[in-house]
Amino acid sequence: MTSEAVVTTRGLTKRYGSVVAVADLDLEVRKGEIYAFLGRNGAGKTTTIRMILGLIRPDAGEVRVFGPTADSAHPEWLRRVGSLVETATAYPNLTVRENLDLHRRYTGAPARAVPDVIEQLGLAPVADRRAGQLSLGNKQRLSLARALVHAPALLVLDEPANALDPAGIVEIRQLLRSLADGHGTTVFVSSHILVEVAHLADRIGIVHAGRLIEELDREALIAAARTFSAEQLTDQQRADALLGLELERYFLARTDEGPR
Ligand SMILES: Nc1ncnc2c1ncn2[C@@H]1O[C@H](COP(=O)(O)OP(=O)(O)OP(=O)(O)O)[C@@H](O)[C@H]1O
Ligand SMILES: [Mg+2]
Repeated sequence: MTSEAVVTTRGLTKRYGSVVAVADLDLEVRKGEIYAFLGRNGAGKTTTIRMILGLIRPDAGEVRVFGPTADSAHPEWLRRVGSLVETATAYPNLTVRENLDLHRRYTGAPARAVPDVIEQLGLAPVADRRAGQLSLGNKQRLSLARALVHAPALLVLDEPANALDPAGIVEIRQLLRSLADGHGTTVFVSSHILVEVAHLADRIGIVHAGRLIEELDREALIAAARTFSAEQLTDQQRADALLGLELERYFLARTDEGPR
């Protein structure tokens, strides 16, 4: 594929004392694709995302977002990127609507964007509640809404499925797919569950101990799931395949040193 790269990292490295959180990481996320960054707890996902967003500085290597001259401190850059990183960032004493309106104003999005995104994320029933009083799942929806409200060209989402119920996970998956397919939005999304992203991503990068150990495209994913030939499957294996456990084992086998 020769599609233009929206995010490129070269030799990206971050250390915390003796811990190497991210080690010599080379990534390329292409325009309009959904790239899932998959790894266990402590693998280095959030640290990578923080560096991509310019929130922390790498010890070595470089990040390019939208090409070599783009500056992550520039307001125009912020308009083109929507992000969600670990903790919720809403003002607890403002309502859902007020939080979103604040964000859309400083990103220069039209007023109409707020009711639209409230609708899109199913936040209508809680739109006039204070953010601090929301359930965990609705806080997550608000964070997602905030990432989306200004229709960014690039979405960088750290474990967006956290705290969502299964129906919510499917909803978000469909939303991200429709943004990528319908608007050419580029999506970089982290997860620690392979099956969660197996049906969503165009490509999956597996990160372990700060290193990218494997990249899978759709075909490689299907091959990974096809561990047994149909006749040999036991009922248990069939059930596992249905639940995606087979894929999960594939992921665990690739990262079987366990979490740090
Ligand atoms: N501010 C920090 N100070 C010290 N160590 C840190 C810091 N941030 C991250 N680390 C360490 O860097 C490594 C990678 O952490 P990171 O948060 O990037 O992992 P993660 O893949 O996001 O994990 P999780 O799935 O739990 O969110 C871990 O060993 C972690 O303890
Ligand atoms: Mg993390």
